[in-house]
Amino acid sequence: AVQPVVMAGGSGTRLWPLSRAGYPKQFLVLAGNTSLFQQAAARLQALGRGTVKAAPPLVVGNEEHRFLILDQLRELGAEPAAVLLEPAGRNTAPALTLAALQALEGGADPVLVVTPADQTLADEAAFGTAMAAAIEVAAQGSIVILGITPDRPETGYGYIRTERSSGARVVAQFVEKPDAETAARYLAEGGYFWNAGMFVLKASVWMAALERWRPDIAAASRAAWAARSTDQRFVRPGKAEFAAVPAESVDYAVMERCPGSGQDIRMIELDAGWNDLGAWEAVWQVAAKDTDGNAAVGDAIVHDSRGTLVHATSRLVGVVGLDDVVVVETPDAVLVADRARSQEVKQIVNRLGSAR
Ligand code: GDD
Ligand code: MG
Repeated sequence: AVQPVVMAGGSGTRLWPLSRAGYPKQFLVLAGNTSLFQQAAARLQALGRGTVKAAPPLVVGNEEHRFLILDQLRELGAEPAAVLLEPAGRNTAPALTLAALQALEGGADPVLVVTPADQTLADEAAFGTAMAAAIEVAAQGSIVILGITPDRPETGYGYIRTERSSGARVVAQFVEKPDAETAARYLAEGGYFWNAGMFVLKASVWMAALERWRPDIAAASRAAWAARSTDQRFVRPGKAEFAAVPAESVDYAVMERCPGSGQDIRMIELDAGWNDLGAWEAVWQVAAKDTDGNAAVGDAIVHDSRGTLVHATSRLVGVVGLDDVVVVETPDAVLVADRARSQEVKQIVNRLGSAR
């Protein structure tokens, strides 16, 4: 059995002011006609219709977004197996643990196909092929991750080095979010892949790995799960118990520790036009552009500018003579930023206290 899981509880602060606490980036239509969350759900739906027999997805998200999650799934004609609601995000390791505990209910031990909700893929069929291979390997007890060939020294991703082989390659090293110098060295040395942020593994394999390396997260998550309440599709871990779970990502908690540990970890290459829409720079990358490299979304007039992204939501925005700039207009907040520094939008949100 295969159980898809969508992790949809992130905050997407680098895409402020479009991405807000009440309506974060995974629920926004940033590329194509549907939101990033809907693209993730549709991808998993298609997987289930192929050779892989996959159940409806488990969605792990924030309490505040429960209706957004259900409404956006219904727009696709999809129903979740369940929506696991966190009172507050504790990063992805606890989120995946809730999904694993839900999947283990009733004695089954399915292969979890865990995907984020903040990416676009140009080639959905390539995703299906890579996943079908990953599921076969994971069914034998391995942890399988997907690797993307890097094209720049990005510091926001995990880096994977594999042993020389093909197919499901043995992962020799996993380094989450290296500093700029290290990322540049990896790119120059070659042989490294970016972690696509998707994890394929049996529910029991996740729990065993977590018990081994982060028994604190495992125990606190189990306590929150034991105190859960269920209301139709919604499952809520105990509020106080979940608040006490240490916040950590899947990558730091488990993936970095697997190579050489005895827990088999494999990587399958994914060549599918993968894009993580982390910051405005990436949104500009995937946007339709004019011959001067300008992308205009909404009511915008751009004159004598190059490489500029304008995203207008409620008013007409005019731009004259600006190169490599991002302008994002919303009813109550406007961002004007150097496109190359779009990672630093996070600093504005930090000063605000949250993406309000
Ligand atoms: N339910 C839940 N709860 N989901 C969460 C939480 C949480 O507390 N925090 C993040 N998520 C969701 C996000 O919405 C996103 O869909 C996914 O989990 C990944 O979280 P990010 O916060 O976006 O991770 P990242 O982009 O910094 O890094 C991960 O993805 C990269 C590729 O995009 C890592 O796996 C990297 O190694 C990887 O390269
Ligand atoms: Mg991300």
